[in-house]
Amino acid sequence: MRGLFILVTLACFATAQHQALIDYLERRLLAIEDRISQWHEQTTRFASELRELKQQMVSQLDNLDKEKEALRMNLDGLGTRVDRVERELDYLETQNGAQPCVDVDDKLIEQQVTLVKENQKAKYSKFSDCSDMISSIKAMKILKRVGGPKGMWSKDTGRSSGKVYIFNGTDDDTIWEFASVQDFTRSQGMSLSKNLKLPSPWMGTGHVVYNGHAYYIDQAEEIRVVKYDIKNKSVTDSAVFPVQDHVPMYSLTPETPMDLAVDEEGLWAVYATRQNERHISLAKMDANSLDIEQMWDTNCPRENAEAAFVICGTLYVVYNTKQPGRSHVQCVFDVNGMVTSEDAPLVYFPKRYGAHSSLKYNPHEQLLYAWDDGYQILYKLIMKKKLEI
Ligand SMILES: *[C@@H]1O[C@H](CO)[C@@H](O)[C@H](O)[C@H]1NC(C)=O
Ligand SMILES: *[C@@H]1O[C@H](CO)[C@@H](O)[C@H](O)[C@H]1NC(C)=O
Repeated sequence: MRGLFILVTLACFATAQHQALIDYLERRLLAIEDRISQWHEQTTRFASELRELKQQMVSQLDNLDKEKEALRMNLDGLGTRVDRVERELDYLETQNGAQPCVDVDDKLIEQQVTLVKENQKAKYSKFSDCSDMISSIKAMKILKRVGGPKGMWSKDTGRSSGKVYIFNGTDDDTIWEFASVQDFTRSQGMSLSKNLKLPSPWMGTGHVVYNGHAYYIDQAEEIRVVKYDIKNKSVTDSAVFPVQDHVPMYSLTPETPMDLAVDEEGLWAVYATRQNERHISLAKMDANSLDIEQMWDTNCPRENAEAAFVICGTLYVVYNTKQPGRSHVQCVFDVNGMVTSEDAPLVYFPKRYGAHSSLKYNPHEQLLYAWDDGYQILYKLIMKKKLEI
């Protein structure tokens, strides 16, 4: 009897336990179903959000495509503009040849040291800072024709500025300033320029613009160099050039009483006097004080001289030959005595219109700015070292 009771109890117990298990499982199932339905909800929400996002993406991609197309067209436009500027600038790419002369000087000194071991100091002092000379004219570019048959144009030959100045004619007092060579080239006539009135009219075509100053010969009886601060619009200094009986150096531009030039070493004056009538004289000037540092009577004849310029302390005189389109460097004079006319290459100027009424060297670009019968021309020079000849 007792055994049966235990059995029944056990069975009941078993049933009760079973029921609890089922309850438990049911609760779990409900909870899981609940979660599944939550997930389901979330998934549909995500799905719809995803769809929205996709739609947004598609429309943005459309926009992007359009923008890309616009950008491509802009780039094409830019490309042609860059091409144009590059074409315009094919002469002006030498900017980064910043200080070749100084490097070369070091090399020269090294060479010299290995060659000659004695008297190093004497040798050293013989070299100036600069040893380039012309090898040939690489190319020419006719930029424009503004103004009359005679005049002068030049960039500021100092380092800081890209500004371009036009001195039209041989006896005016108004110069035109362009912000850049590009502005000068694309300007209709002088339209993109600013004009500046000098305190007195100039004479000839011998002016230079150097470090923000115009240096010009005014119309006084003596040869007087005026140094004019272009930005400040004031005369910084003026000095009478200490020679008497000067005669014009250039037969085709007799209006020019004296020619000024700028090279790597500063300011120079090219002139001629009755005392040394057959030859051209050269002077090194101090660009700050306008003092004369040294003067030389060169062996370069005055006859048929058309223009002159100075590079690394060497004067190059360009002569006019009677054949049309032919003028060339025929005489050089090196103040350091390293180059003579025999060493100098025969440099011919290509196709020309009339005569060069001015030839201005820019030491930073190794370009010559020429005025030839109203045309503004650039000549690109190829240089070599004086010792290599
Ligand atoms: C330039 O100078 C010439 C005279 O040499 C003159 O006839 C001409 O009108 C001037 N040009 C300008 C733009 O001023
Ligand atoms: C500009 O000119 C004035 C006098 O006109 C002078 O006092 C001043 O120092 C000048 N400035 C420069 C930068 O040369």
